Amino acid sequence: MTAEKLAPAAPQTPQDRMKEIVALCKRRGFIFGASDIYGGINGFWDYGPLGVELKNNLRDLWWKSMVLTPPIGPDGEPVEIVGLDSAIIQNPKVWVASGHVGGFSDPMVDCKETKLRYRADHIMVYPVPEVLEDQEPHLAFVSGTAPEDIHKRMDKYWGKINGQTSKEYYSLENPLSLEKIVLTEYTKILGPDAKKPGSLTEPRAFNLLFETKIGAVASDDNIAYLRGETAQGIFINFKNVVDSSRVRVPFGIAQVGKAFRNEVNPRNFIFRSREFEQMEMEWFCDPNDKKITPQMWFDFWKVQRQKFWEALGLSGDNILMREHGQDELVFYSKGTFDIEYKFPFTDPGFGELEGIAYRTDYDLTQHQEHSKVKMEYIDPMDPKNKFIPHVIEPAAGLTRGVLALLCEAYTVDPSRPSGVYLNFHPAIAPKKAAILPLTAKDQHPVLATKLYLELREEFAVDLDIKQNIGKRYARQDEIGTPFCFTIDDQTVADGTVTVRERNTMAQERIPMDKVAEYLRTKIKRVI
Ligand code: GAP
Repeated sequence: MTAEKLAPAAPQTPQDRMKEIVALCKRRGFIFGASDIYGGINGFWDYGPLGVELKNNLRDLWWKSMVLTPPIGPDGEPVEIVGLDSAIIQNPKVWVASGHVGGFSDPMVDCKETKLRYRADHIMVYPVPEVLEDQEPHLAFVSGTAPEDIHKRMDKYWGKINGQTSKEYYSLENPLSLEKIVLTEYTKILGPDAKKPGSLTEPRAFNLLFETKIGAVASDDNIAYLRGETAQGIFINFKNVVDSSRVRVPFGIAQVGKAFRNEVNPRNFIFRSREFEQMEMEWFCDPNDKKITPQMWFDFWKVQRQKFWEALGLSGDNILMREHGQDELVFYSKGTFDIEYKFPFTDPGFGELEGIAYRTDYDLTQHQEHSKVKMEYIDPMDPKNKFIPHVIEPAAGLTRGVLALLCEAYTVDPSRPSGVYLNFHPAIAPKKAAILPLTAKDQHPVLATKLYLELREEFAVDLDIKQNIGKRYARQDEIGTPFCFTIDDQTVADGTVTVRERNTMAQERIPMDKVAEYLRTKIKRVI
């Protein structure tokens, strides 16, 4: 079979590209819709054999970069960060103190016609052209709708103007956000999925915390919440960590784990889900320190976090740092930056991957007030210096990071049988190498199994014996395995194997007893 016959056509649009990534994730066992066999459940995902390896690799590299080998600080000293794994369900007072019970809400808009619910800030409205006004509705869309779908709907409702289609007479550059539109105008807006205008309700607050009940009695007194972020588990353990270990301010506490938000519009694959994982670190520092001020730590962590994602292969044009405007900042924050990634569904725009926030002493002060436990830290070098530490918080999405890595790695190459390959950095790749006996007979599988047993002690490797070699290479390309080692007759004769490099498909022979060393140098430390 020729390569041309097997290779799919190159994706034409970012939307097609995204569809192909989702299909590959399912086909090759990275990510499945949760409860697939029961028709699924919106906003929840299962990570398959390769997805869990990929996610664990990202988690482990983050943990290494934070807890095991954290960076050297602005003063030339290694910084100190310790780990934590707090409970998902805590005393509900935690979420009252943090403000999540009262305020962790998005303004929501309901559609009276379709019964669908949307986040108000996700609805964009394209005003009807002036010549048609009063005869036709303004059209509302959920942000992220493909331009061709927008134009299709415009043509349906507004029709041609002076013989031109909407693509010719209407620029999609500046939609209005729904929040900027006065309520009296709502009657003229046609909701994203509605057939008649005027079906959208006024925006209303909707709390995102998932509720559950603790114990056998299902009364309102037993309400508890699944954590909406991992960060609060860190704040409420600040004193425990200081009192039980030798850490001294400035230091950090890091945590990776599940978080739950009853998102109204879970979408874009795993980008916005209702159950997801976060990697958060709270950096506690002295607000009175004149040598390294909190602002300097803030700048430091911004640089470190961007370096982290870049080291994993998120490339220059696809990643940026965006400062929040004053109107986006919560009142206690002295600044927030988002590291954003150009996902196919945000293209040409960007979507948040990680937020780095200077949160002042807000969280610890809130917990001090609500719990009545003092959160003050006493400087051991100067007992007169008592303070509630200021916090810099780099908060990243683990599952969202997995999506960014998948999108970045997805590379179309019609010249190879698979038509695509995943260009993962070897440190991130779920499988570091595949061992492929050329045939399933003679000494080939015996030697391949020997090499596999040796390598698996140190690396995540695949032994794949069946099918023709081209199909096996194709499978490894699609799952992003950086190296394939082939065992053939020459291996039996002289003890060498073929190494095939994923991206270049170049092949060379190396001694079988040097394979482990070869892999070790190729998968060298990235962080
Ligand atoms: N403690 C601060 C905090 O939780 P956030 O910006 O709400 O901040 C941090 O969340 C990161 O968690 C985001 O940058 C994003 O990567 C990830 N995240 C947030 N909501 C998510 C969701 N519904 N699905 C997947 N990831 C999400």
